Amino acid sequence: MKIAVLPGDGVGKEVVPVARDVLKMTLPDAEFVHVDVGHERWLREGKAMTDGDMDVVRGCDCVLFGAITSPPGKPYRSIILALRKDLELYANIRPFKSNPVSPRQVDFVIYRENSEDLYAGLETVTPDEVRSVRLITRKASERIARVACRRPGIRKLTIVHKANVMKSCELFRDACISVATAAGVPYDDMLVDTAAYYLVRDPSRFDTIVTTNLFGDILSDEASALIGSMGLSPSANVGDRYALFEPVHGSAPDIAGKGIANPIAAVLSAKMLLEWAGKPDAAKAVQHAVDRTIAEGTLTPDLGGRCTTQDVGTTVLKHLEKTL
Ligand code: NAI
Ligand code: MG
Repeated sequence: MKIAVLPGDGVGKEVVPVARDVLKMTLPDAEFVHVDVGHERWLREGKAMTDGDMDVVRGCDCVLFGAITSPPGKPYRSIILALRKDLELYANIRPFKSNPVSPRQVDFVIYRENSEDLYAGLETVTPDEVRSVRLITRKASERIARVACRRPGIRKLTIVHKANVMKSCELFRDACISVATAAGVPYDDMLVDTAAYYLVRDPSRFDTIVTTNLFGDILSDEASALIGSMGLSPSANVGDRYALFEPVHGSAPDIAGKGIANPIAAVLSAKMLLEWAGKPDAAKAVQHAVDRTIAEGTLTPDLGGRCTTQDVGTTVLKHLEKTL
């Protein structure tokens, strides 16, 4: 297997090497292809990502990605949005599962539609007015609902939308209902503002959430707070033949360069890569190593500890080596 490694900017450069080491240990035959993309490269070389870089990525089986700082004034196309679009990664899968240091006990997955909505780039800009088109299609809505309904062990699908205001959300909701009905999956639906409320008030009512691109983006960061930190939330961007794995968090300029970023979100993204690659035992071993690391109190400051990225990485690898 050939894995493109794109650490990107800021803490991406600090947490991705830990996740790569986890993959080196669990996939000894894998080949890693490093690609330097992002805002820091743009500042240095005037290029954030070239067509050649995209060809290299396409030549790999999947991607391990960090995070990229959004440039002020949009001098180039968003790299993560370009990768999601060009590689047709239409499903963004984000599991949220508490650990012993989490402030709340939750266990649910957000399935975020990854190809349309206000992120489709359909914007008309004039000096005094900007129009952003919200594109929602039946095809893409049914596609993400099908992925969500295939979740192993799914108990209930909650369709999150804003159909009381937007026709586009009526289409999304109804497309998801038809897929859930055909699949025999129990479902309910909820307005996004109500979902934001219940995520804090009673997150135990959620099992599997399916929602549109922007709502999924926002609710994911809220859900990260429930489990304790942005530094704990992994994600998979999946299409029919390709996949990209990345932490939910961004480049975190407020802590970048200090060596204190939590690498667990990136490590658990590597775990999702292993699941996607058909290596469930290796994936379980990674989860076990992370659980042990947290349980014994090897924690970065976001979780109230004093350990460094490196301390957590070394401890995860130590436990992983014992389990494999
Ligand atoms: P962020 O997700 O980078 O950070 C939000 C908060 O979470 C900050 O307080 C940060 O210190 C904390 N945090 C994030 N990752 C952490 C980790 N591994 N360990 C401990 N704490 C962590 O969001 P922010 O600051 O709004 O965005 C920073 C930049 O990242 C922006 O330019 C944004 O556009 C970009 N971004 C990129 C993404 C991507 O490439 N996929 C996703 C989200 C944001
Ligand atoms: Mg986000």
